[in-house]
Amino acid sequence: TDFETILLERKGRVGIITLNRPKALNALNSELMREVVSAVEELEKDSEIGAILITGSDRAFAAGADIKEMQPKSYMDVYLDDFFAAWDRLAAARKPTIAAVAGYALGGGCELAMLCDILIAADTAKFGQPEIKLGVIPGIGGSQRLTRAVGKAKAMELCLTGRNMDAEEAERAGLVSRIVPAADLLDEALQTATTIAEMSLPVAMMAKEAVNRSFETTLTEGVRFERRVFHSTFATEDQKEGMAAFVEKRPPVFKHR
Ligand code: HXC
Repeated sequence: TDFETILLERKGRVGIITLNRPKALNALNSELMREVVSAVEELEKDSEIGAILITGSDRAFAAGADIKEMQPKSYMDVYLDDFFAAWDRLAAARKPTIAAVAGYALGGGCELAMLCDILIAADTAKFGQPEIKLGVIPGIGGSQRLTRAVGKAKAMELCLTGRNMDAEEAERAGLVSRIVPAADLLDEALQTATTIAEMSLPVAMMAKEAVNRSFETTLTEGVRFERRVFHSTFATEDQKEGMAAFVEKRPPVFKHR
């Protein structure tokens, strides 16, 4: 498939989507949104792919929704178009998704990173929800996902003042899983993605589904959900293989990768 605003490549079992609008610091316009969603859908269908990695450039993961595209829009334009709703498709991806973030991840850029399951940051990363400075609020889930990730006090401060936080602060607050030197970002993220992609795909999808459930339900229901899914892993060939491999002191060869 030919894309204008992203690059799509496959490395082993990992699909890599690179945001590629360098002149606009990867600002998220409608075309880029359509292309990312279409690439994710393509990778979701591809049985050779076990994990999806999304990254930007050294300077910017993405500096937000495209302000120049948004500027002329009216309430009716954004309401009738359900502006930004297509990003929900990324949140709904069943395969594990990883955001590798260097430089600016602001506004929609921070929200795009938070739509992914794992967020790995370069030491150059800067996160923020500066929408308020433009007279709007986050529109791709930032007010909800940032609050769940870092708690109310910091989410409130970031959304109300528009200030950025650096990678250290983001890691301390629990937004990112780890920080790596900028030069190693892609290698490290690819290694993590590859590790995941070598696991049993259905079981990785079940683990993802179980963790995500914790954001949607009570503890009792979440634990019940987890137990049902845990039981169902015993119906897979990969559970048989994983446990046999341990007992036989050899690496597992999962069938459903
Ligand atoms: C469109 C953008 C852009 C954006 C940068 N550019 N961010 N274009 N939308 N979000 C463009 C600039 O206009 C400029 O193009 C080029 O990218 C380089 O940016 P500079 O500003 O010259 O770079 P620098 O001085 O290094 O500053 C980097 C920056 C700044 C701090 C990231 O660009 C910035 O503040 N950008 C906006 C960040 C922001 O407010 N994001 C939230 C957007 S709202 P030209 O052609 O002029 O040289 C959002 C809403 C989500 O995400 C949902 C709510 C509805």
